[in-house]
Amino acid sequence: MGGAIDRADLEGDPHPALDALRRAEPVSWIPAIDGWLITDRDLVIAAMRDPATFTVDDPRFSTGLVVGPSMLSLEGSRQRRHRRPFVPPFRPAAVQAAQGDEIRGHARRLVEGLRPAGRAELRTELAGPLGRRIERTVRPSTAGSSGPRPLLGAIADSADLTHDELCSNVAVLMFGAVETSEAMTANALFHLLSHPDQLAALRRDRSLLGNAIDESLRLEPAAAVVDRYATADVRFGRPGAEQSIRRGDLVRLSLTAANHDPSTYVDPHRFDIRRPNAAGHLAFVQGPHACIGIHMAKLETAAGLQAVLDLLPGITADDPALARPTGLIFRKPDRLDATWPAGAVAATSCPDG
Ligand code: HEM
Repeated sequence: MGGAIDRADLEGDPHPALDALRRAEPVSWIPAIDGWLITDRDLVIAAMRDPATFTVDDPRFSTGLVVGPSMLSLEGSRQRRHRRPFVPPFRPAAVQAAQGDEIRGHARRLVEGLRPAGRAELRTELAGPLGRRIERTVRPSTAGSSGPRPLLGAIADSADLTHDELCSNVAVLMFGAVETSEAMTANALFHLLSHPDQLAALRRDRSLLGNAIDESLRLEPAAAVVDRYATADVRFGRPGAEQSIRRGDLVRLSLTAANHDPSTYVDPHRFDIRRPNAAGHLAFVQGPHACIGIHMAKLETAAGLQAVLDLLPGITADDPALARPTGLIFRKPDRLDATWPAGAVAATSCPDG
């Protein structure tokens, strides 16, 4: 069945193809993407939690080729050694203390700058600049500049890594952060603006913001697929319907398909900011390579959405259908054009919410 799937089936609206695969062949060889595609949530979790069988440590892995060995291209104790120094500064309290005010201020200034025009293309004019903020935070050349102490400085002091190792991991951090963060904010704006009833519910009850962001990540995880390589010949699949994966095969885990698995999510394609189990999505992966930037990324997207809710009360998307996210690996809207009554400010403005 995988032979009938082409890349276009996965790049636009992937759900007809992903749903069919999950039902009939949740471990499926797809020639068009030169690998196995895993679409069942339990199997995706099993694979990402089994790095001895499904590894990132393979010479073909593109990140390793580009930036050299890093936490994202190693496994086991070598991976932990690379990852360990980066964990503390990305913990929720550390991110909030070191960068919370700066992130909220940055988001607010961006939206204030857009407000007078009465319209904007929100992916490149809001989500993009918000996502690129991380570059300033970690770039070595900012060391010693004013503002929060650059992350890299704090990490370099404590890390038992060589200069090259440190640089490889910082590169991974930046590559991992910028495009995905932009997509995460753009996708959340897309979901809210294309569901005015949900946007209104969020305006009435801002405590739903965190769950709304998780629900958007569930529907459109910015990184739709993560790749692993099989370390051995292995039988893998639902009990009784396993497939024979060969050593060295590329195994692609569809986070999008896992997040729409009807065995976990009722009415899985619906955007529902009150969904009780939205936070169980796999957008940030589980296991040894779980994203380190979760809390910073969530803070950024929340700050962007808060600023829009506070400062652009009458905002509407020009044509939500045109803003639908697309892409095979990274998914985001091509354009997200929106309009609002110029000069308007919400009565219940909440700058630091
Ligand atoms: C501040 C922003 C971010 C930073 C600093 C960041 C950093 C990182 C780092 C360093 C890793 C590698 C962890 C390891 O291998 O041990 C990682 C993994 C990952 N990140 Fe992020 N990230 C950010 C935002 C995001 C966003 C917004 C998404 C998606 C919505 C995302 C999705 C992922 C995924 C799926 C992985 C796992 C890759 C894999 O297992 O192959 N990240 N992130």
